Amino acid sequence: MFDAIASRYEFVNKLMTFGLDVRWRRRAVLDLRLPPASIVLDIAAGTGDFTRELARQGQQPVATDLSYGMLRAGRSMRHRVQADASRLPFLDASFDGITCGYALRNFTDLAAAFGEMARVTRQGGRLSLLEVSEPETGLLRTGFRIWFRRVVPFIGSLVSDRAAYHYLPQSTAYLPDAKEIVRMLNQSGFTAVNHRRVMGGLSQQFIATRSR
Ligand SMILES: C[S@@+](CC[C@H](N)C(=O)[O-])C[C@H]1O[C@@H](n2cnc3c(N)ncnc32)[C@H](O)[C@@H]1O
Repeated sequence: MFDAIASRYEFVNKLMTFGLDVRWRRRAVLDLRLPPASIVLDIAAGTGDFTRELARQGQQPVATDLSYGMLRAGRSMRHRVQADASRLPFLDASFDGITCGYALRNFTDLAAAFGEMARVTRQGGRLSLLEVSEPETGLLRTGFRIWFRRVVPFIGSLVSDRAAYHYLPQSTAYLPDAKEIVRMLNQSGFTAVNHRRVMGGLSQQFIATRSR
């Protein structure tokens, strides 16, 4: 599915988020609190929005994704590795940090992906994840539902792939709630796991440190 939407992915993404994701990614990279030139693995990097932000902030990113089409469309990424997040082809403790943007709900085995994130991160290394979420109450929630469940599939059908943009909003159903994700990260070997709602709950972030 991601191969099919790769060429227009970034364009539709910017339409869907009004470009707000740029700010959210910037903050998520800053929250890694890693020194410059740290080696950071961007898991499920897609076409590289997060990877480029890492490079912009002076880190040395490596992008990995299951979809060859997404990696190929992200030409500006220097190091690209096609791989499944639940079976990463990297040595233990080989990264200072991990980022992963808007992909958790696409993983068929989330526990295995978290296990791999922990395995490839050095002790004391950092993790910063972004994922979609839904505002808890009020007008923002209603507006978000109309936008995400009706408008996004409509725009997606017009400019990209109909089936994919009908699936993507529905895929949030596969995402465990924040408490469960925090529990899973703790169990996988991360500590100081912090959950933050971004912009009234339009997005959410998980920050953590690899246990010593
Ligand atoms: C919604 S896109 C997010 C892309 C990018 N991280 C971003 O922030 O724009 C989800 C990505 O997850 C990737 N993906 C899905 N399942 C995966 C898996 N098991 N292992 C690695 N990547 C996967 C897809 O190929 C796709 O590029």
